[in-house]
Amino acid sequence: MSRILRRIAEEVLGAEKARRIWSRIDLVGDIAIVKSPMMLGDSESLTLDDLRRLAEELIARIPYIKSVWLAASPTLGEERVRDFIHLAGERRSETVYVEHGCKFKVDIAKVFITPRLSFEHIRVARQVKEGERVVNMFAGAGLFSIIIACKAKPRVVHSIDINPHAYKAMVENIKLNKVEGIVKPYLGDAKDVIERELRGSADRVLMPLPALALEYLPYALEALESNGIIHVYLHVHAGRGEDPRAKAVDQVVKAAGKLGARVKPMHARVVRKVGPRWFQVVVDVYAEKPR
Ligand SMILES: C[S@@+](CC[C@H](N)C(=O)[O-])C[C@H]1O[C@@H](n2cnc3c(N)ncnc32)[C@H](O)[C@@H]1O
Repeated sequence: MSRILRRIAEEVLGAEKARRIWSRIDLVGDIAIVKSPMMLGDSESLTLDDLRRLAEELIARIPYIKSVWLAASPTLGEERVRDFIHLAGERRSETVYVEHGCKFKVDIAKVFITPRLSFEHIRVARQVKEGERVVNMFAGAGLFSIIIACKAKPRVVHSIDINPHAYKAMVENIKLNKVEGIVKPYLGDAKDVIERELRGSADRVLMPLPALALEYLPYALEALESNGIIHVYLHVHAGRGEDPRAKAVDQVVKAAGKLGARVKPMHARVVRKVGPRWFQVVVDVYAEKPR
């Protein structure tokens, strides 16, 4: 697919402009999302008119793309959604996105969704052992939780989100994928839900929201029964010669140390680049709760 996107972009915009845009096109179901180059300071090289011409061509040449939207801002606010501008095709932001054989109904304008976490979803699912109890603190439309329920054999996946639209989508997606007995949806702030209902309930905790990773580490630890695995997602700045994974591990170990918890880093990987010299990194740690 990326070859086709690149070719179309080159034909419509020429090689120089195409270079700046083709890898920023994501397909979510039958919707193409073009990430605005303006966000990365390329505003002079590509105009809205360029992007509309590209969008029209995507609709004309790739039959399963029905709608094209410009993501005109970074993910914003607590709910991590973007501002979108319609570029071409149907004026519809709802779609069904399929990942690892699971189906997700989503409205891209109301709920965070990216195909760029696809490998992470299955990587974490593959680690879940039979009978595990999982807490997903920032579940969105339920991707990690449902893929875990479909691909592994957890006893339960408690799945929390603060965005009512994400919660509604998650409830629908749980039914769509027939994992009602396993994935339990919660609407609310992860810290409140954990304190109220999920203390000591988990063997594994997912924290897929870099903005709150370190601030909410105490609640992830609280969710563990006594010890277990925590997957911490962070945004890390790494200059030339610096390893973003080492910096992320250091941040997690220091934060856990301040809380009196013992953590042993098991694995760290760069999930994706999120800006010039900024990286999203996941750190998997084995953690023992403070006594
Ligand atoms: C990056 S998205 C999660 C992505 C999702 N796990 C996936 O794989 O598609 C972060 C989610 O955290 C939710 N969120 C933000 N603050 C929260 C909080 N305090 N408690 C629970 N959910 C929160 C947002 O509404 C958003 O859906």
